[in-house]
Amino acid sequence: MFSRKSMTEEATVRWEKYRHRINYSADNEDSASEIEALTNGSNTRLLCIAAGGGRVLNLLVNRSKEIWAVDVNPCQCYLLELKIAALKSFNYQEFISFMGIAPSLDRVDAYHAVRSELTAEAASFFDQNILDVEKGVIFQGNLERFFGLTSKVVHLPLFDQFRRLFEFDEIEAQREYLDQKWNSLIWRGLKHALCRKTFLYLVADDPGFLRYLPKKLPIHEVIFNCLHRYLYNNLAKENHLLSLIVFNRYVNEPSVPHYLHRDWFDQIKTALQTAEIKIINTMIGDLVKETPEETFNGFSISDIASYMSQPSFYALLDEIIRTSKKGAKLCARRCFLPLQLPERYGELVRRNSELEQKYARHDHAMVHEYLVGDIRCGN
Ligand SMILES: C[S@@+](CC[C@H](N)C(=O)[O-])C[C@H]1O[C@@H](n2cnc3c(N)ncnc32)[C@H](O)[C@@H]1O
Repeated sequence: MFSRKSMTEEATVRWEKYRHRINYSADNEDSASEIEALTNGSNTRLLCIAAGGGRVLNLLVNRSKEIWAVDVNPCQCYLLELKIAALKSFNYQEFISFMGIAPSLDRVDAYHAVRSELTAEAASFFDQNILDVEKGVIFQGNLERFFGLTSKVVHLPLFDQFRRLFEFDEIEAQREYLDQKWNSLIWRGLKHALCRKTFLYLVADDPGFLRYLPKKLPIHEVIFNCLHRYLYNNLAKENHLLSLIVFNRYVNEPSVPHYLHRDWFDQIKTALQTAEIKIINTMIGDLVKETPEETFNGFSISDIASYMSQPSFYALLDEIIRTSKKGAKLCARRCFLPLQLPERYGELVRRNSELEQKYARHDHAMVHEYLVGDIRCGN
């Protein structure tokens, strides 16, 4: 499905190496942000990056009628197919057991019960990777396996202070604890052990979220500053991503992503009966280029801006604007650095700085900056 042209663009070359495996299997962003940013009439036809599939499913909370879920990596598309098939077929307990959140002895049997709902390519992929299904597919992405390692480090007795963050129920008490411990030798050790650029390059093996950052940016400092900003304003125990990083599982049931949440599950399952979800394996840039003007009411493009050069991102934004219906909503993220726009976008993208600041402070992804707003609102 790749066009030759996009495969030669420098911003896209890297994905080729990483498109034979699931890179992201959980839902590590905080869909509450997208659910809020893309509400109010933006739900008719959405364009979403698929990634682990969670955000696409969570956006059904807004009663979205049609979602185009696009991903350059076919394995991410297969994963979304599998999650949809399982959601449609299973009840809540069966679903979370199949995903790997609750124990199960029969995930392979469960897989065979839904296999016929998958495309031949997706079925063949999971047949070949049946061990991932057996272990619970939600924790088998490359990033989630990396969290297996971070959780082992954080579980060393030395880092007990860090794990204790999950015991707080009151933000004031958590802040006081942070004030006492943040600069301790032990926490600084954690920063240097897990957040150094070289370590992330070598061990996390991510397709390239570090690639477009200024060379001199001290990543470990930036990550820890983001963590501090987050923990000063939000309870650690309410963060599902932090829970994976520290425990390699979800430790607090009420804080799991919407589609894994007992209270939202039935609503999302019901929405799936009528919503049309088109799963498309291509570069988002190629897809929008071939899409007619005024097609979409909303865009949820995850943090793909972190994986693109600035000119590539602006070229994508131009196509997003062209394919937007008037007043369409956009929610984009970027790791560590603000998403600045040249003046020429002033009339075309009306940014909502209140929401952008709110998400920078409270979104569970912790390290993202935001571009949230309405597109083509003027005359
Ligand atoms: C950028 S990653 C971020 C994952 C995320 N923060 C999480 O929840 O773990 C999201 C997805 O975007 C896809 N992707 C990145 N750039 C893309 C592009 N230009 N077109 C289509 N998909 C893209 C990747 O394959 C990946 O599955």
